[in-house]
Amino acid sequence: MGKNWIKEYKKEHYYRFAKKEGYRARSAFKLIQINKKFKIFKNVFSLLDLGCAPGSWLQVSKEFIEINLKNSKKKIKPKIIGVDLKKITSIEDIDFLKMDIHDEILEEKLNEFFDNIKIDLIISDCSIKKTGNKTLDQVSQIKICDRILEIAIGLLKKDRFLIFKCFEGSELPKFLKSVKEKFHKVRIFIPEATRSRSNEVFLVCQSIIH
Ligand SMILES: C[S@@+](CC[C@H](N)C(=O)[O-])C[C@H]1O[C@@H](n2cnc3c(N)ncnc32)[C@H](O)[C@@H]1O
Repeated sequence: MGKNWIKEYKKEHYYRFAKKEGYRARSAFKLIQINKKFKIFKNVFSLLDLGCAPGSWLQVSKEFIEINLKNSKKKIKPKIIGVDLKKITSIEDIDFLKMDIHDEILEEKLNEFFDNIKIDLIISDCSIKKTGNKTLDQVSQIKICDRILEIAIGLLKKDRFLIFKCFEGSELPKFLKSVKEKFHKVRIFIPEATRSRSNEVFLVCQSIIH
């Protein structure tokens, strides 16, 4: 069995599975697999998704938060919001901002939405459009990652998780070092649903350093 065959099988498998489950993209399974490993949705009632279009991570998040609500004795109104350059088809009970994550007024808008209360979980699958030049793409992606870090440091609760996407390559170790200066625990995770030819990795960061 050739490697290409396995890759295509995996891609098709997750595509069909996403369709069957009503998810907007195969990437839904990446978030499910991240949660299976790290239990990032534990006690989560407020969530920010940066680079959320078409919205499958928001769909998955809503499901986990609904389970948390069922299991909670407290009456909590969940707050879920996604941000993207591209508009998404709306999802009930989820807010959306059509905005560049680099926009300086983003934090102000988010603080308004979350009533100036820090957020339980920040997730991001945000990525640049790849040019094919791996070094250039990695540098551009790190600019996005730097901005995600900046937003998270300002808005995330101290002991909670930030999940975001990076590309493997020569720039990663230096960037990783800077992330480790900001979070107590930083792990690299490649979900099974990530295509084998992709160089994407997810950083699972927990507990901001005061
Ligand atoms: C892989 S997709 C996200 C898929 C999403 N997690 C899902 O499951 O539906 C990456 C997204 O990042 C968005 N993006 C890239 N750069 C951005 C930026 N500077 N500001 C906001 N969104 C951005 C793209 O528009 C794209 O929709």
